[in-house]
Amino acid sequence: MTKTLQTRFTELIGIAYPIVQGGMQWVGRAELAAAVSNAGGLGVLTALTQPTPDELRREIDRCREMTDKPFGVNLTILPTMTPPPYAQYRKAIIESGIKVVETAGHNPREHIEDFKEHGVKVIHKCTSVRHALSAERMGVDAISIDGFECAGHPGEDDIPGLILIPAAADKVKVPMIASGGFGDGRGLVAALALGADGINMGTRFCATVEAPIHPNAKRLIVENDERGTNLIFRKLHNTARVGKNSVSDKVVEILARPEARFEDVAHIVRGAHGRQLLETGDLDAGLIWAGQVQGLIHDIPTVAELIRRIVTEAQTIIRERLGPKAAG
Ligand SMILES: Cc1cc2nc3c(=O)[nH]c(=O)nc-3n(C[C@H](O)[C@H](O)[C@H](O)COP(=O)(O)O)c2cc1C
Repeated sequence: MTKTLQTRFTELIGIAYPIVQGGMQWVGRAELAAAVSNAGGLGVLTALTQPTPDELRREIDRCREMTDKPFGVNLTILPTMTPPPYAQYRKAIIESGIKVVETAGHNPREHIEDFKEHGVKVIHKCTSVRHALSAERMGVDAISIDGFECAGHPGEDDIPGLILIPAAADKVKVPMIASGGFGDGRGLVAALALGADGINMGTRFCATVEAPIHPNAKRLIVENDERGTNLIFRKLHNTARVGKNSVSDKVVEILARPEARFEDVAHIVRGAHGRQLLETGDLDAGLIWAGQVQGLIHDIPTVAELIRRIVTEAQTIIRERLGPKAAG
């Protein structure tokens, strides 16, 4: 283990490298989370990928069989008409003895308070400085600040990481990791330089051997460049960044019509279709979540290779480009 890359975040969580795998619907299963934790990062299971809280308990057990290192669980709070039984998922997480949780989404207060009461460390992922500060006031242990580049929900402010990360670092006091657009050692060093204590990655981990998704989906990420995303649901104020494919193109086209409403696209954006894409490799089956970092992804390594490469590249940059010689 190297000292160069130890930060307040690695100390807080008890991991070797400041690299987190963010929660990912249908992707954040035991195979991937365990591989990330075994490689010295923080792997994260995605609670809502499991159809019931009991199945989440079993997935946590399965992950424990694959790693003896710390791993977390993501709980995403979605704005939906029929919410999943969040309190029961939360109970399953706490009762399973999970020590770190990534929360994301709307109104996380009751979840954060309950996790904290039970000694679970909370990393809250959000997309603005004001939400980071509000989560900090709720008592979270760390912030994951997600820039406009990210896959998933970048919020409505459109602030890229180059501005958002230092703007947040100026105000957030708890350890903070930078998210959105990270995929290599250059990004990790940049995040540290901008004031973060580590990085969170989603899309990059999808293009790994252990990601439990169809090879066609991994290949799409490798083949796409940095322009390979669509922003959808903008006019619904629930912006999402997804990979460019026939379905997301269609959603953009339909919602561009002045009278269009969510109901006009609901049938093609269902989560079940996205799951079908990832399972069958039919790239026109539904939405695929992916960020602009696709432009930096050129291969499908194992998670261990990827993390080793990011760490080595970061150390080399720090030593050779930013070391004492560079300082003159
Ligand atoms: C396939 C996929 C599914 C995702 N699902 C979720 C989710 O369910 N909950 C969540 O909080 N974030 C989700 N995200 C966002 C990631 O956790 C992470 O914040 C984001 O991918 C960071 O940006 P990057 O893709 O540029 O690394 C997802 C991302 C991807 C690529």
